[in-house]
Amino acid sequence: MGREPEIITSKDKMRRWSRAMRAQGKAIGLVPTMGYLHKGHLALVNEVRQHAQLIVVSIYVNPGQFSTSEDLSTYPSDFNGDLQKLMSVPGGVDVVFNPHDLYDYGSWRGTEGMEKKEDVGEVSCLEEKGGGHETWVRVEKLEKGLCGKSRPLFFRGVATVVSKLFNIVEPDVAVFGKKDYQQWRIIRRMVRDLDFAVKVIGSDIVREDDGLAMSSRNVYLSPEERQKALTINRSLSKAKHAAEEGQINCKILQDSVILAIEEAGGKVDYAEIVDQETLEAVEEIKAPVVICIAAWFGKARLIDNIEINA
Ligand code: PAF
Repeated sequence: MGREPEIITSKDKMRRWSRAMRAQGKAIGLVPTMGYLHKGHLALVNEVRQHAQLIVVSIYVNPGQFSTSEDLSTYPSDFNGDLQKLMSVPGGVDVVFNPHDLYDYGSWRGTEGMEKKEDVGEVSCLEEKGGGHETWVRVEKLEKGLCGKSRPLFFRGVATVVSKLFNIVEPDVAVFGKKDYQQWRIIRRMVRDLDFAVKVIGSDIVREDDGLAMSSRNVYLSPEERQKALTINRSLSKAKHAAEEGQINCKILQDSVILAIEEAGGKVDYAEIVDQETLEAVEEIKAPVVICIAAWFGKARLIDNIEINA
């Protein structure tokens, strides 16, 4: 077992630590997570080590990216298990930043008795909870398609919490998994548009031996559903192969993916071939694209993708 990371829970202490380290000329790498770590997260830690001397892993389940219809309270967590996993990584990590409430502004007293309103459409868990937070970061076009269609407030919550983490940790580099392709593109665009002094790196998808993309949500799959969910990766690989063999018609490729998943008992939320940068749908593959998919198997909504560098 490797060295124990320092656990920091306060925003001020985190910022003081980072500033002290930077004054010593050390580059800081951040891996933002919501905990319940798996090998995919550990690969992000290994990636960030290539770019920074010190590593901060944040563990924070962000209420701002859950809508009230999604279950924030049952999101899986295992803080001690996470620490063990981080200690098992060669070289370990320096700090685990585990804020108890990033949206706690101390003196705010206007939330007592605040009730969830039924008639205001999509509301995030954070708004339901109150607290007076009202500033959001939106990456207006990139957040709309793909996962943004069924989760309209999700990327607003992600971009906002990542901005907060960048402002508190002040990292030089941050690594995001490319399994969450849209999230990764959104963070890169936000960093460019708002001039954050952070280099954002995308890390390749880490898969189980049988091809299933690693995800904290895989725990929701029964053994039978897990087997069936393998069609996601298989159908994506097949479509990529077909594209490389000359099938450039996106509708044909998308339909083949949808059919395979539905035949296996999955429910497709979307299967789209989009431009790698703009995430806009394309009809024919003529430039680098990515096939993005979200599908339900039982209670688990799984996402996956595959890049085609035409
Ligand atoms: O990918 C995730 O786990 C989350 O969306 C992130 C980036 C940690 C923000 O809460």
